[in-house]
Amino acid sequence: MTDIQELLLSRIRDVPDYPKPGVVFKDITPLLADPAAFTALTEALAEISLRNGATRVVGLEARGFILAAPVAVRAGLGFIPVRKAGKLPGATLRQAYELEYGTAEIEVHAEDLTPEDRVMVIDDVLATGGTAAASLELIRRAGAQVAGVAVLMELSFLHGRQKLEPALGAAPMEAVLTL
Ligand code: PRP
Ligand code: MG
Repeated sequence: MTDIQELLLSRIRDVPDYPKPGVVFKDITPLLADPAAFTALTEALAEISLRNGATRVVGLEARGFILAAPVAVRAGLGFIPVRKAGKLPGATLRQAYELEYGTAEIEVHAEDLTPEDRVMVIDDVLATGGTAAASLELIRRAGAQVAGVAVLMELSFLHGRQKLEPALGAAPMEAVLTL
């Protein structure tokens, strides 16, 4: 593990039995509150974005916004929000995805993505992969290209990477930390 990975891991707090018994929640608020760690993470995600030829950064509401916005600024790329359904005022594309119980929907402004765009999706955690997979569906339906998915943490025991594979195609999923 690199020094940066050790720093980041040390700033992620495990919260047992949240939001329900048996689940260990990965709380990134200590990392966000540490400027050295937040800067190092921003630079790592910006490097992944640029190395994969991204021209746009998509952040996934809500925690993905916190990471993707500074990455977009650091990399000199435009930021596009993918929001939970009902929050965007313009014409949108909407995609449903499965939660443990029931379904949820995310949206993007249709005019924000064009076939010229190569999009890097940024989020805090890849767990089951459902959220990221739905965002890739939106990007492809909009006609844009997928540069990849970049996350702070991949929870590898949940096998989200496999769920992403069909929508990723040849594009990569890169995690700064694999847990
Ligand atoms: C969390 C997390 C990821 C997603 C990962 O978002 O921030 O976006 O779940 O889970 P998955 O890989 O199983 O889809 P959530 O919508 O729960 O909360 P948030 O609004 O705080 O980001
Ligand atoms: Mg989220």
